[in-house]
Amino acid sequence: MGRLEVNDESEAVIATHVTEARSAETGRLPADGVQRMFDRIAPVYDAMNRVMTAGLDRRWRRITVEQVVRNGDRVLDACCGTGDLAIAARGRGADVVGLDFSEPMLERARSKSREIEWVRGDVLALPFDDASFDAVTVGFGVRNVEDLEAGLRELRRVLRPGGRIGILEITHPRGALAPFYRLWFDRVVPAIGRVVPGGAAYTYLPASVRRFPAPQELAALLEDAGFATVRFRLFAGGIVALHVAEAGQ
Ligand SMILES: C[S@@+](CC[C@H](N)C(=O)[O-])C[C@H]1O[C@@H](n2cnc3c(N)ncnc32)[C@H](O)[C@@H]1O
Repeated sequence: MGRLEVNDESEAVIATHVTEARSAETGRLPADGVQRMFDRIAPVYDAMNRVMTAGLDRRWRRITVEQVVRNGDRVLDACCGTGDLAIAARGRGADVVGLDFSEPMLERARSKSREIEWVRGDVLALPFDDASFDAVTVGFGVRNVEDLEAGLRELRRVLRPGGRIGILEITHPRGALAPFYRLWFDRVVPAIGRVVPGGAAYTYLPASVRRFPAPQELAALLEDAGFATVRFRLFAGGIVALHVAEAGQ
């Protein structure tokens, strides 16, 4: 939000809401706006995920952890939200830390598993030593990080050389199914969002997908951040991408 020369607190609150509504439309929010958005949608987040992906998100999470997590690994699930990807990683016999900056999202994660260490923190300043994880997963999180390149470098920092990263993210659909997905994400999802708490998030979602780097570009950014053997695969006709890479030596 720009600098506001107002003494009246209610005016400042209204200005914040207006700014956030506009930012939702452009798909760009500062970190505190992203955090407030997820604080608000935490109660409906899991249900919306199932509805929006017709339950396919479970399969994508399973494939993500199969690709990067091994029995006995120490794993960081960054932007863990309500914890489903972290729980999938734990299911592969890993010792898992889930990190997120939204306390309401973490509260839901905590209620799902006590076997995972849930940490409140920021991806841009991870509270972990260099090279302290064997694997990192991020599910539908990097798109929301205010400085994507800095976030990728920070994730690289906490991975040991040769450690693996799996990034699951919504991407620009292409090909024959693209018009269907455009209808779904640009019209149906925001319409559903209008009837749930914190619904502006579901206007922000398609807008943030539009401005997010395409899979090839994200692969290049991963290389710039110090990852090697970067590859990606697409799911559901190209609406979701899974990037897998190794931390360079
Ligand atoms: C779309 S949710 C994804 C949740 C979960 N990973 C999943 O697969 O469903 C994105 C999460 O990223 C978190 N997040 C966004 N930016 C963050 C940052 N800079 N540091 C920590 N968490 C962040 C939000 O609070 C939110 O819980």
